[in-house]
Formats: sequence, C-alpha cells, structure tokens
Amino acid sequence: MKKKVYLDYASTTPADPRVVRAMLPFFSKKFGNTMSLHSFGQEAKQALEESREAVADIICAKPDEIIFTSSATESNNLALKGVAFANKEKGKHIIISQIEHPCIVESARWLESQGFEITRLAVDKYGLINPEDVKRAIRKDTILVSIIHASNEIGTIEPIEEISRICKENGIYFHTDAAQSFGKIPIDVNKMNIDLLTASSHKMYGPKGAALLFVREGTKIEPFIHGGGHEGGLRSSTVNTPAIVGFAKACQICKKEMKKENQRLSKLRDELIKGIFKKIPDSYLNGHPQKRLPNNANFWFKFVEGESIIIQLDLLGISASTGSACSSAKLEPSHVLLAIGLKPQEAHGSLRLSLGRWTTKEDINYILKVLPEIIKKLREISPFKR
Ligand SMILES: Cc1ncc(COP(=O)(O)O)c(C=O)c1O
Repeated sequence: MKKKVYLDYASTTPADPRVVRAMLPFFSKKFGNTMSLHSFGQEAKQALEESREAVADIICAKPDEIIFTSSATESNNLALKGVAFANKEKGKHIIISQIEHPCIVESARWLESQGFEITRLAVDKYGLINPEDVKRAIRKDTILVSIIHASNEIGTIEPIEEISRICKENGIYFHTDAAQSFGKIPIDVNKMNIDLLTASSHKMYGPKGAALLFVREGTKIEPFIHGGGHEGGLRSSTVNTPAIVGFAKACQICKKEMKKENQRLSKLRDELIKGIFKKIPDSYLNGHPQKRLPNNANFWFKFVEGESIIIQLDLLGISASTGSACSSAKLEPSHVLLAIGLKPQEAHGSLRLSLGRWTTKEDINYILKVLPEIIKKLREISPFKR
C-alpha cells in the first residue's frame, strides 16, 4: 500500500480519537436541545456549560466570556462587524495587518463599503508587525485593532502583547485571530490584554463546526445572527452540542500535552528545515526563523511552481499545501508572501509543510528523501530556470 503522510495540519487536523469518543453520546443518546426545559435539554445544557468552562480554562478566561460559533470565519466576522457597529458613534477607524486571513481581509473590505476606514499595516521580511507602527496608525476615531496571533501561512508569531498594551493605553479594543496558535502555544487573555480572541476546533484535533469568540466582559459588541438569544444573545441558533463537547475535550488534551508536543514538533520542524537547506539548493524559509509556530515550515524554491510540487508530492502519498488551504483554489499569489516582499513568481514557488500530533521522524525522513528529486526534475522542465 502507498505510504500516506499528512503534512497539512494547518489547514485542518484529524479529530483525536479521544475527542470522537467524548462526542459520540451527544449524537443520539444525549441529543437534547440546550434550550429545552426537560431532562434531555438540561443534560445537553450541562454539557454545554462544562464545555464552556474547559474551553475558557485554556486561555484563562471566564466561562461567560466564551461565545460558541461554527467556525473561525464566523468568529472573525462577528468580532470585526460586531465591534464596528456597536462602537460607530465613537469612531469608524479600524487597524488590521496586511497578512490577515481572508475572513478578516474580506470583513474589513465589507466594512469599508459601509463607511468604515481601514488601515492595513505592513510587515517586515519575516512577517512581523512593528508595534510602533500600530502606535503611529492610531487616531482619535480608532475603535479596534485586529492582528493575527500566528500566521496561517508562514507561521510567524506576532508581538501581540506589545500591540495590545498600546491598545489598552489608548482605550481601543484589541482582537486577535488565534485560529493557528490556540491550543498550540500558551495564551493568557488577561496577561496579554486581549479583548476579543478567535479560535477554531478543527485546527487543534477537535471536530469541524465548532469555534469560539472570546469577548471580554464589558466589551461593546452587536450580534449579527438574530434569533432565540442563544450564547448571551450574541449568536442565536441551536447549539451544536456534539461538536462543542469535542472542542472542549480537544482543549483539555492540548492543555495537558502542549509543552511536550511543542518540544517534539519544534525538533522535527527544525530537522526538516535543516534537511531541506542541505539537500535543495536555492531554497529559502518564509517567516521568522525563531518566532514561529512549532509545527510550521514554509519554503520557497527558485525556478519551480508550488502547485506542481503539491501534485508530485501527492502522487507519492504526501499531502501538503502551497499556502493557506482557503486560497489554494485561487491562482493568485498569496497576499501574505507578497507582503513579506516576495515577487509574484517567487511566491508561486512556495510550499507549506505543517506538522501535527501524528507526524513522525519517519515522515520527515520520507519527505526529505523524495522532495529534492521532485524539485530537481521540476527545475529541469521549468521555463524560469537559469
Ligand atoms: C488564521 C486563520 N483564521 C481563520 C481561519 C478560518 O477558520 P475556519 O475554517 O474555522 O473558518 C483559518 C483557517 O484556515 C485560519 O488559519
């Protein structure tokens, strides 16, 4: 049988079997609607509230500050649009970065069409935002700063503690999209002065269909899904109890195993990076060499096209990505790679390898064995070659 190696954990992760086990009773035995007054409803409600506690615990939040949603896309939409509309009397200026996920980029673009003003901060060659640039961009009418915690494409971890401190000093809300960092690196919303935070279950070994928005007590925010008043009135709709129970279990596992897992993955990631540099000439790392997620390695290779590498790897059983899964259907170069200074042709030669809970040393050895040959062959037929 063909060897299968999954190196695309940043796009989605398999649910941990322990998570699946925790979810199972909530499909057909404990299936109640959390809003029902009878025992089935109360059983589901109890599971929902216990899940809220478990999820809050991993970021040191209060359970009441957790709003369950269906995805990070939804949480990010709620954060930006909800804060914008609730605070429009104070001002209509919002600051984001040039390397946000498309759901922030597009929400911001839509807000512009509604009369809000958006500043998009540039990043350096590693994808880092300079907190001084945030300070300089703040105006009297600024209401929100939203900066991604760790890049889904290049893995760079942003200095959000410094940025949020500046926001606090200026009385501005600070939101971070932590879809890639949540459950992987420590987050304390109090120590880090975060007012709103987005996280998604399917990025950290939970099921798809569950996510959260942390909203600090007292934050002014408008709902945009109206209905029966679920989730403190911020997100109506019958809650997805099985997925939320799974999300909570995934959080408990991540909290317990984070330290050990980070050491293991950083070691494998560094072996991978070193191996690629050694075996493949004209290869470069995208993102910061140290300030990066333990599971992310993103490269660009001269004279090749990322899509061709993906196809060749797939033929050998390796699943990888050229950038973020969400943009891989488009043939435009990644806005993140352009923002760190790559030329469109260089950005097209990128490969993201993201590691996870079931990545082994053998997997790394396998890709280090096959990738140099793939790149060599593609370069031989490349129209860009020397
Ligand atoms: C940083 C970041 N934000 C948001 C999202 C969207 O997540 P979801 O699939 O839960 O909507 C992703 C997924 O790729 C992501 O990596």
